[in-house]
Amino acid sequence: MKKLVVLSGAGMSAESGLSTFRDAGGLWDKYPVEQVATPEGYRENPALVTQFYNERRKQLLTVAPNRGHELLAEMEKEFDVTIVTQNVDNLHERAGSNRIIHLHGELTKVCSSYAPYDLRYVKELKPDEYEVKLGDLAGDGSQLRPFIVWFGEAVPQIETAVTFVEQADVFVIIGTSMNVYPAAGLLNYVPKQAAVYLIDPHEVQVNSYRHIEVIRKGASEGVVELLSRLKQKA
Ligand code: OAD
Repeated sequence: MKKLVVLSGAGMSAESGLSTFRDAGGLWDKYPVEQVATPEGYRENPALVTQFYNERRKQLLTVAPNRGHELLAEMEKEFDVTIVTQNVDNLHERAGSNRIIHLHGELTKVCSSYAPYDLRYVKELKPDEYEVKLGDLAGDGSQLRPFIVWFGEAVPQIETAVTFVEQADVFVIIGTSMNVYPAAGLLNYVPKQAAVYLIDPHEVQVNSYRHIEVIRKGASEGVVELLSRLKQKA
């Protein structure tokens, strides 16, 4: 089976009704990124940050995977698929994808605020636990914090992602502005002979000279088009 690696970003979930970050009216327009997505912001105002992620979790209950997520899951019949996602939602999981690497953490999990990457204290929340409160403690006695990789923090999953990207026969970028590193840098690890596709309804500035087949469509229609282009080549 050919190895297909997807790098997805916020645009993957846009058609499910989740806002992107940098488009006009995106999340970072409404909530300053320094306040809700940095360790300093959390230290200054843990109540605000806790509330922000509680709202994001609540929103998860109101949205569903879109056709794009579903088609990527169905592609596992024909390809060995790895999804590397910058998204913290669980829509790839809910669509049925089996190998998902979350570079920026997961909304449905919480962790220790002393040692965020200590897996002993990472906990998956059930929907009725989505509302985290100040005073809720992790196993080490520290305040429970969102299991989210904030700006300025290490990205522990990047090495695992690189090992899959280095083996890719096909690499597909979907719905990311390619602004955030190290995620955007994964393109540099794609083997020379692999085919690279980029699905996005808008123009994306990619920092690479390699040939990229651009599919200028939204995620759902774009994955349909990808399937037909891959069939033509098979
Ligand atoms: P951005 O908001 O930067 O980019 C979203 C991309 O999705 C843009 O290129 C849009 O053109 C595209 N897009 C919009 N609608 C789409 C659709 N229907 N189908 C496909 N694409 C569509 O989001 P990311 O690149 O994911 O990090 O942002 C990367 C990281 O920055 C996020 O993981 C988050 C953010 O700050 C953290 O929170 C740590």
